[in-house]
Order: sequence, then structure tokens, then C-alpha cells
Amino acid sequence: MKKPDLFNFDVIVERRDTASMKWDKYGGRDVIPLWVADMDFLSPPAVIDALDKRVKHGIFGYTMPPDELYEIVLSMLKEEYGWKAEKEWIVWLPGLVTGLNVACRAVGEDGDDVITAVPVYPPFLTAPANSRRNLIKTHLLETDGKWGFDFESIEKAITPRTRLFLLCNPHNPVGRVYDMDELTCLASICAKYGIIISSDEIHCGLVLDDSKRHIPTATLSPEMSDRTITLMAPSKTFNTPGLGCSFAVISEKNLRKRFTNAMTGIVPRVNTLGYTAAVAAYRDSHEWRRALIAYLRKNRDLVIGAVNRMTGLSAGEVEATYLAWIDIRNSGIDDPVKFFEDAGVGLFDGKEFGTPGFVRLNFGCPRSLLAKALKRMATAVNSTSKRHPTPLV
Ligand SMILES: Cc1ncc(COP(=O)(O)O)c(C=O)c1O
Repeated sequence: MKKPDLFNFDVIVERRDTASMKWDKYGGRDVIPLWVADMDFLSPPAVIDALDKRVKHGIFGYTMPPDELYEIVLSMLKEEYGWKAEKEWIVWLPGLVTGLNVACRAVGEDGDDVITAVPVYPPFLTAPANSRRNLIKTHLLETDGKWGFDFESIEKAITPRTRLFLLCNPHNPVGRVYDMDELTCLASICAKYGIIISSDEIHCGLVLDDSKRHIPTATLSPEMSDRTITLMAPSKTFNTPGLGCSFAVISEKNLRKRFTNAMTGIVPRVNTLGYTAAVAAYRDSHEWRRALIAYLRKNRDLVIGAVNRMTGLSAGEVEATYLAWIDIRNSGIDDPVKFFEDAGVGLFDGKEFGTPGFVRLNFGCPRSLLAKALKRMATAVNSTSKRHPTPLV
């Protein structure tokens, strides 16, 4: 007899008219939204119960980070990554994008350079200018659907004023989990030129590939720890991005001071429900996360299989995240967002990530919805490429 699933990710929850950025973007249009990165799954039961209890208390005054949450985060870092971090290294933030922007302000001076590798999550491309820094864009290299750093071009692009590298690992949108050799090589280049690394690790709880493990950049060595600002959050893994609770881990005292100084008077406290959800997510939702990963793996396989059967489209490996990065350069489609929206599917344009010719698809949704979206995409692609019909999924 088949064991009943403990958590049912197949359930479709109506999200329209909840002021959902993802769903309400399309108003009354019949567009399946697979663009912004939140999932259409209920958060873990433990998170919902904890929030319910906290709401019923009924007073929502100024809140401190709960002591218990420090312990939970420190033990998560130790158990998952063998990282012995200390309580005072943790700086709470109401969002990870806030952390990226604060990192740009905290490191170097006005007019300095900040380097990153595209395609990358769009706020990486705007954060430097927000802080009066210049952005230096290098390009990841793709070989057979697998993306990686072009270390030579990174080293060539570094200027005497380059102070900060904005790293995304696991990498949104290309789904890579960088291995020890890749991180060591990047770290040694940064150390050679005195560059601090801001390491956005928000997707670290979503490694789908069994043979990979997430390595926080700061765990490479004590020296690397001291030149790294690690940014993490429970929000992607446990589907709580609307609750705004993230944190930075910064071991080096002066760097931490510069970071907290840059926040002063501008960055608000984390809200009380954000903390409540974070405790229940990290402490009580391990089984839910395991079930989520198993579900996402099957969704990933469905997406990769279907997309690679569409004429002119291809998608590579997704080692982590619930995001597929789809190459449309051989499809003849000029305006991919409009093309797929007209077909009833909302995707994110690669040009926002610094790389036109691609779209990003979020597969964190019930499988029936995903299959419907893929069928719509295949039908639309078919109608534009009659000479090479695409099998429907
Ligand atoms: C790499 C990365 N960093 C940061 C964020 C957003 O973080 P926050 O909502 O906490 O600002 C996202 C959301 O998709 C992301 O993919």
C-alpha cells in the first residue's frame, strides 16, 4: 500500500486577490505566473501553527531577536555546514536585498568598483549604483548547460578600486552549487586583490542534486571568513519571503562594525512575525523540507525534459533552487515575456539578469499547474516552429 504523503504539495491554494506580487501582477488574465521567486505551497505546518499562536497573543510591540533563534541558527550552521559561528557575528536584517545594499555601502568608498558575474539576480546589478559604486560585470561561462566562473576574465576585470565581489551561491538563476575548487579559486583571487566577498546564500537550503553540498564561502578558511559577509534567510526554503527575516554572518569585527554603521537609522528592525516563523522553520520543519526537496526534484525533471523537447529552447542542470534557466536564443522569439504571457505563462526575462536570450521559470508550484504551463509553452513554441513540431508534454 502506498504510504500517504505527510505533506501534500499537490494542493492548489488560491492566491489571487491576496495582494500576491506573483499572482496579482496579471489581474484577471489567464496567465500562470512562474516568474518571481516564491512558491505556491503552504509554509510548513509548524510555521503556520507558530504564527497562529503568536497572532492570537494579540500584541505586536517592538521585538528583539529571540535568544532561542540565535541558538537555532548557530546550531543549523554547525550541523549543516560544520561552521562554528558565534552569536555576535549575526546581524539581523529585514530582507536579504537590504543586506546586499548595505554590503555595498559598508565596503570601500564612493566611486569604488563592485564586481559580479552575470546572469545574476537583478538586485546585484542595481545595488552598487544605489551606493554610489560602479558595477563591473563579468560573464559566467556555459558548457553543455552547466555554468561556471570565468576566472581569467574576473581577474582581468579587477581594477585598483575593486573592493567587493557580489557572489550568489547557490546561484540564482543558473542553479549552480559551487564546489570547493571553484570557491577556493574565487576566494584566492579575492584575497590576492584585497576584495571582500558578499556571499548571498539564500538558496542554500534548496540543494536538489544529491551529489552536491552547499559550502558557505566563509568556511573555506579563517582568513576567508574574515573577508566574507554571508547573507542567509529561511525565506526561500520555507516559503516565507513576505515575512522579511534574514541575517548576515560577519566574523571580522571591523567589517561587522562598518556593516552595522551603514544600517544605522535606515534599516528597520525585523518584524515580530518574521522571527516567529524563522524559529519554527529552522527548528521544527526538517521533515517538511525533505519532502519539499523530493517534490521539487520531480518538478525540475519535468521542466528540463519538457523544455528540451521544445524546438529552439534548452535548459541545463538545476543543482539547487526552484528556478530553471532557459536558453531561447535559437527559438526566433524576440520578446519572450510577451510571447509566453500571450500563451498564458508568466516568466522572468533574462535581460533583467544581465543576459538577454534567456528566461527564468519558477517550478515551485503544484505539479498539475506546472504541467499545464509547460503544455501552454509547448503549444505556443510549436505554432511558431511548424517545421520542427515540439511534442506536447
Ligand atoms: C539570490 C537572492 N537573493 C535575495 C533574494 C530576495 O531576498 P529578500 O526578499 O529577503 O530581500 C532572492 C529572491 O528571489 C534571491 O533569489
